[in-house]
Formats: sequence, structure tokens, C-alpha cells
Amino acid sequence: MHVLAVASEIYPLVKTGGLADVTGALPLALKARGISTKTLIPGYPAVMAAVGNTVLRAEFDDLLGVRARVLEADYKGLSLLILDAPELFDRAGGPYLDTNGLDYPDNWRRFAALSRAGAEIASGALPGWQPDLVHVHDWQAAMTPVYMRYGFSPELPSALTVHNIAFQGQFSPEIFGQLDLPAHAFSIEGVEYYGDIGFLKGGLQTSHAITTVSPSYAEEILTPDFGMGLEGVIAARADYLHGIVNGIDTQIWNPETDPLIAAGYTATTLAKRAVNRRAIVSHFSLAEDDGPIFCVVSRLTWQKGMDLVAEAADEIVAQGGKLAILGSGDPDLERSLLAATYRHPGRIGMTIGYNEALSHQMQAGADAILIPSRFEPCGLTQLYGLRYGCVPIVGRTGGLADTVIDANEAAINNHAATGIQFSPIDVAGLRQALRRAFRLYYDQKLWTQLQKQGMKSEVSWEKSAERYAALYSSLVAKGI
Ligand code: ADP
Ligand code: GLC
Repeated sequence: MHVLAVASEIYPLVKTGGLADVTGALPLALKARGISTKTLIPGYPAVMAAVGNTVLRAEFDDLLGVRARVLEADYKGLSLLILDAPELFDRAGGPYLDTNGLDYPDNWRRFAALSRAGAEIASGALPGWQPDLVHVHDWQAAMTPVYMRYGFSPELPSALTVHNIAFQGQFSPEIFGQLDLPAHAFSIEGVEYYGDIGFLKGGLQTSHAITTVSPSYAEEILTPDFGMGLEGVIAARADYLHGIVNGIDTQIWNPETDPLIAAGYTATTLAKRAVNRRAIVSHFSLAEDDGPIFCVVSRLTWQKGMDLVAEAADEIVAQGGKLAILGSGDPDLERSLLAATYRHPGRIGMTIGYNEALSHQMQAGADAILIPSRFEPCGLTQLYGLRYGCVPIVGRTGGLADTVIDANEAAINNHAATGIQFSPIDVAGLRQALRRAFRLYYDQKLWTQLQKQGMKSEVSWEKSAERYAALYSSLVAKGI
């Protein structure tokens, strides 16, 4: 089977979060099941610089007002289609934000054009290649099924994966005329969204299947608390909704062979983690005593509950623990976490920024990872934590609830527990979870049991790739 994937990020070329990890790993996991994926991504400067030799596959004189080409390249086992449209993507900032951290004002055109190119490819724009199915990710690619429905190839099956419904791609209705869609697409069945234009909304209406990145999140987004205004749209399409939990690339995230950590180890050589612990103690200038080291590797946002970490930080120190933070994001949250490091030198350390290598080192050296997210469609850092024996302490929501087994009495007795879940997700909840973590940590036998059980958890793509493959087959077989 041939699949066209459309996405705005892909690891290892361009990544702002877990979306890239998924779009980079899923095609490799599907390959083993006879499904070959070509992924259409924007030709950001980092992509153009990295890929080297490319083959010209299609040219558009007027793709929503700009000239563009589709270039094909193989990169680290991935088969890429690159939308080379310098007017849209050759910019100094990030994928979505300019160098001042502001949304590019023409994001609607940048990602509508990406989606339009996806729809053109779906309907045969690449000589000699025809996908059987199109799989698009998040709002940036969500207009692909819209373009397919309104003209290009309404009969070709499409699936839309929602990685985070908080990001919807909502724009002023004034752009409608430039989207090159028929007038009736501006309707409840199409892109109209509370009088505006909703890219994700349009994709939810027009794709043949909707997936979320965990089963719990699929349930949650049917409710007003999590659906962020789209719960009605989702509910109306609930028969087409599937929750498939993310896996991780267990080759890249393998504590035995990871070249980014100071010392490799397995579940039977956990003592070697001490070398990795020393590496982070030194990086974050922490004291060398034996108390537990908690870490945070995260976007610093309200979603991720980073204000709760700032509030609970003093308590971690009061109980003899330490905290190492890697992240960037909301300036207020950066400031309040930094303030905690000033209050507790040697006990709390922070690196502001994005650092892939350090993120591996932290999972390999810290005792536990804090993920107090208020909502979490899937979450990947708890999966890395499980695999690395870095015990996840998580809010009971979304994919966190689905992937971590709480160390309650029964789970401990059954040797099933892999971490700590807490609810409600507020400061009191986090404080209580931390107290439980300290108790467990000082019972070294129990803690090691948690680590080992976590390291045994099934976190690979194996099962989930199977589920995507089954979904693809059912869509193709149905003959839309
Ligand atoms: P989200 O996509 O919502 O940010 P996920 O847990 O799904 O959350 O994925 C986050 C990904 O980004 C993980 O691979 C994590 O290790 C990585 N990450 C987040 N912040 C940083 C950072 N500051 N430096 C390095 N990696 C980071
Ligand atoms: C989004 C979600 C995160 C999920 C990731 C990959 O960024 O916030 O929970 O793990 O996508 O699916």
C-alpha cells in the first residue's frame, strides 16, 4: 500500500514537539508491514540544507498565489516530498514563528498551500506515483482532505490525526477568497467555524477517519472541557474516531546503545545510571548528595502544568530532592522557574532552550520525570522515561493516563506499577504525588521494581503501527 503523509514537522529534520517524533517514526514502523509512505513537508531552510540531492517531481506556477516545486529525496530511511516554495518557507525564524516569536501573518497561506499540494499529489500530480490513502497531521495539513473533498479526489480515502486540539488554525473569513475553494466550502460541512475559517475544523469534517494519539484523548475531546469548541464537530463524527496511542522509536531511544548519554545500561545494569546521574549533576551544578533528582523536559506552557512545578519546587528541595529543568516557552513561566533556581542554588538547575542531546542525558540520569500536564493528547516524555528507568510522575489525563501504571497498592503487589499518576491536576495533587515519590524512592527495592517494570513496558510502535495498518486497510477496502 502507498500512503501520502502530510505534516509540518518531521524528526530529525525539523521538530518543535512530539508531532515530529511521530511523523518521523511511524513510516519506518509501517514499512515493516508492507506500507510505504512518502511524507510531504515544507521546504524550510533546515530541510533544504540537510537533504542534499533531490529529484524534481512536480511544478506549480500558481499554488495559492506562489510558485512552488515538489522535490523528492530519501533521508535516513524516510521518503520525503519537499514543497520547495521559497516565498512561503525560506525564512529565518522557526516553522511557525518569526524571529520575534510571533506567528507569521501568512501562516494560513503557508499551510493551505502545503495542503493544496498534498491534494494535488493525491490526485496524481507526481508522474508514476499514486497513493492509495492520504494521512495528514494536525491543522497545518488538515486542509488536504478539504481540497480533496471539494474537487481534487473526493473518492480517495483520507485520515486526519489530531495531535493537539488546542491548535486549530483559525483564521479570518476574509482569506476565503484566496483559498481557491468553491463558495459552498464556506459552510458547516466545510471550513466555516463560528463565522471564521477553521483549518482543523474543515479537516475533521472532510476526512474519512479521525484519529487521536491516545484512546483517552479520543474520549476527552468529546467533552467541552477538552474539545476546545470542536467537541460538537467531533461528536457528530464519533463513528469515525479512533484513539491510537503513540509509540516511540526504540532504536533512537535505547539506553543500552544511546550515543547521546554518558554510559549505556539495561534493566539489569541499572547501577551504571550513576555515571549519567553525575553528568547531569555536573551540567546543572547540583549538589552531590543522594536525594532523588526530578527532571522536567518540556515546552514551558500552561498545558504542561509548568506553573505547578514552579509552585511545588520549594517542597522538592525541603524534602531533600533536586530538580533539573530543560525547556523553553512562556516567558512568565521561564521567569518563575528561574526564580526557583536562584532561591535554591545547587538544588534546582535549569537550562532554557531546546537541546536534544541533553534531553536524552536527563532521562538516563534523573530518577523521575515530572509531567503534570493539564491535558496531554499522548505525551512522549513519559514513554522515554519508562524506557530509561526515569520514573514518570504524571497527571491522570489523556495519553499519560493510558501509558503509566500508577504505583497503588494492588499494582505494586502485582509488580505492574511503572510510575505515579495524580489527580486532580493542581498544586495539591502534585505535592501529594511528590510525597509518594519520596516514600517510594527511599524504599530502594520498590523503586528499582518500578524502574524495571517501566523498562519492560511496551512503548515501541509495534502494536500501534498494527492499528494504523488495520485502519488504512479498512479505509482502502471500503472504497470511499
Ligand atoms: P509536545 O509535543 O506536546 O511538546 P510530547 O511529550 O509529545 O509533547 O513531545 C515533546 C518532544 O519534544 C519530546 O521528544 C521531548 O523530549 C522533546 N522536548 C521538549 N522540550 C524539549 C527541550 N527543551 N529540549 C529537547 N527536547 C525537548
Ligand atoms: C502533541 C501533543 C502531545 C503528543 C504529540 C505527538 O504535541 O501535545 O501530547 O504526544 O503531539 O502526538
